[in-house]
Amino acid sequence: MRLGVCYYPEHWDRNIWREDAKRMIDLGLEVVRIGEFSWAMIEPAPGVYEWNWLDEAVDVLGCAGLKLILGTPTATPPKWLVDTHPDILAHDREGRPRQFGSRRHYCFSSDQYAAESRRIVTAMVERYGQNNAVEAWQTDNEYGCHDTVRSYSPEAAKAFRKWLQFRYGDIAALNEAWGTIFWSQVYRSFDEVDLPNLTVTEPNPSHVFDFYRFSSDQVVAYNKMQVNIIRANSPGREIYHNFMGHFTDFDHFRLSEDIDIAGWDSYPLGFLDVEDYPAAEKEKFMRQGHPDFAGFHHDLYRGCADGRLAVMEQQPGPVNWARHNPAPLPGMVRLWTHEAAAHGAELLCYFRWRQAPFAQEHMHAGLLRPDNSPAQAYEEVQRAAKEFVDLKTQNESASFKSYAPKVALIFSYETQWMSEVAPQGAQWNYIRIVMQWYSVARSLGCDIDIVAPGSELDKYEFVLVPSLFHVSASALEAFSKTRATIFFGPRSGSKTETIQIPKNLAPGPLQEIFPLRVTHSESFPDFHTEHGKFAGEKVFSHIWLDHVETSLAPLVKSETGAGLLYRSDRIWMFTTVPDENFLYLALTAAQENSVGNIKSLPTGLRMRANGELQYAFNYNAEISDLPSQFFPDIPTTLIGAKTIFPADVACWRKQQN
Ligand code: GAL
Repeated sequence: MRLGVCYYPEHWDRNIWREDAKRMIDLGLEVVRIGEFSWAMIEPAPGVYEWNWLDEAVDVLGCAGLKLILGTPTATPPKWLVDTHPDILAHDREGRPRQFGSRRHYCFSSDQYAAESRRIVTAMVERYGQNNAVEAWQTDNEYGCHDTVRSYSPEAAKAFRKWLQFRYGDIAALNEAWGTIFWSQVYRSFDEVDLPNLTVTEPNPSHVFDFYRFSSDQVVAYNKMQVNIIRANSPGREIYHNFMGHFTDFDHFRLSEDIDIAGWDSYPLGFLDVEDYPAAEKEKFMRQGHPDFAGFHHDLYRGCADGRLAVMEQQPGPVNWARHNPAPLPGMVRLWTHEAAAHGAELLCYFRWRQAPFAQEHMHAGLLRPDNSPAQAYEEVQRAAKEFVDLKTQNESASFKSYAPKVALIFSYETQWMSEVAPQGAQWNYIRIVMQWYSVARSLGCDIDIVAPGSELDKYEFVLVPSLFHVSASALEAFSKTRATIFFGPRSGSKTETIQIPKNLAPGPLQEIFPLRVTHSESFPDFHTEHGKFAGEKVFSHIWLDHVETSLAPLVKSETGAGLLYRSDRIWMFTTVPDENFLYLALTAAQENSVGNIKSLPTGLRMRANGELQYAFNYNAEISDLPSQFFPDIPTTLIGAKTIFPADVACWRKQQN
C-alpha cells in the first residue's frame, strides 16, 4: 500500500509549493490528490480558463517525484454558473432550491449541469490527461454528501418520468406495479406522475422506492459521463471515486462497475460521534472510533470494485463537522493506516496536508498546523511509512495474492431503501443490523468479504444474510448453488421488487430452498425482547418477529411458543433480530470447525490477514493480550507482540504448513 495526501495548492502561496512537495517526499508519501474543488480558480469567468497556476502545481509536485491524482472539480460549481443557470440547483424535499455558499449544490438530473460538467471535465482532461505526473483521476467528490442524491427539482421530475417510461413501457404496468388502485392514485400517462414529496400523508411506497432507484441511477449515469471523457482522453490512467462511510443513497456496487478503484473517506471518530451507537461504546471508543467502522467499509468497498480498494481521505486529528470533535488516541492514525493495508487497500491518502486557517474547515486538523509545524499525526505517518518499507523488504518473496476470506456477508442497497420506505417498525434499521452481524463475525476472528446479492458464493464456507427483502432470481440461484452454510435474518424474501407481498407470502422465492412460510409479522418497541434457550443459555432477540408455518421444529422457541430460529440442512433462518450473544451462539453452533476459531476475541481487538501477513489491532485505550488461540507459537513478529499496547498493531507471517 502506498501513502499519499490531499493537497490544495490554491490555498497557499506559490512559493511554498516546492517546499511542501519536498516535505511530502521526505515523510514517505508517494501520491498527492489535488484539484477537486478548483472550478472557480480554473474558470474564473464563463469560458475564461486560467491554467497557469495548476500547470505550475502539477509541475512542481510531479518534479518532486510525487504521483498525482487529479480530481474533477464538479462538486463545486462556481457562483457565476449558478447565477447564469439557476436550474442546475438541487431542490430539497420541501421543493426549495439549495443555495450557493457551500458545495454539492447541483442536481444530478439537470441537463444543463451535465453539459457544463462535460465541458469543464473535457477541458481539464485534455490539458492533463497525458501528463506524466498524472497517474489517475478522481471523479467529483463524495457523491451524495450533504444529502444530495435525491433532488426534488423540476428537472428531476422530468427525468423521473422518462425513467419510469423506460422501465414500465406503458402506464398500465406502472399502475399495476405500484398498486395505484389503492386510494384512487391511478395515472393515465407518465406525464401525470410527480415526485413523491409534499403529499398529505405517506406517499405510495412503490413510488418512493422507484424514486430512490431512479436517484441512484442518476448518480451512476452522471459518473459514467465523466468516466467516458477521462477514458477517451487520458489513456492508461485509473479512475477512483471517494465514497463515504455509512452512506447508502446510491448503489455503490453499480457505480463501481465504471471505475477502477473504489476509494472511500475514513473518519472513524466523526462517525462514532454522529451515528447511533450505544453510549457506552461511544465513551469507550471516543478517541479510537468503533473497531468495526473502518473494517466494514474496507470490506464493503473492496467488494464493490473487484478487490481494488483505496482510502482517499484518512482522518489525521480532530475533524470539524461532528457534534463533538475529539483527537485520536496517540497511535490511532498509524493503526488505521496499517488496518487499511491489512484489508487490501492499495493506497491511503491523509486528509489534508496542512490545516486551512480559513472557511468552513478551519478547525479540521491536517498533517501540518496552519503555521507549518508538524501536527499530531505527522510522526505517526512517518513511522507507518517506514514500517511499510520494512515490511516490503522483509517480504519481498511473499505472495500477497492469496486473499480469500471464507465468510461472505450480503449487503443490499435495495434492502436499505425498502427499509427506509416501508420500515413497519421504528426500531428496524437495516444497516445497524448488518453492522451487528459483521461485528459478531469479526469478533470471532473471521475475515469477511462483503458482496452484492446475486454474487457467486461457491468459494465461501459461510454466507451471512442479515436481511434481504427482495430475493432476485440471481440471488436465489447463488443461494441454491453454493455448499456454504447460510444464515438468513428476518424479513428475507418478504417483498417483490416493487414492494408488494410475494404471491406465496414471505420468504417468497426462498421457499424453494427453505420449507417455511410467514403467516404474519410483528414489530416491537425498544423495551420488548423475545427470549428462549439455546446451547444451554438464555438468548434474546428484539425488534421483529415473523410467525411461521413449517414442518421444521424450531431450534429456539420463545416463551410464548413462537419459533425464533430454524434450520434445514445447511440453511439457518432467524424469524427475529437476534442480539449479539444469540447470533454468536448460533454461528458457533453451525461452525463445526469449518471456519477455525470458535472463541471470541477480547473486546476491542480485531484480526485481519492479507496474503501471508496476519495482523492484530488493539482499539482499546488499555493494553490487551491476544489469546493464544489467535496467536500461534511463532518465533518472531514483524511488528509488535502478543501483548498489544493501546492503539497499537501486531503483524506476523502466518505459519506455512
Ligand atoms: C470529506 C470531504 C472533504 C472534507 C472532509 C472533512 O467528507 O470529502 O472535502 O470536507 O470530509 O472531514
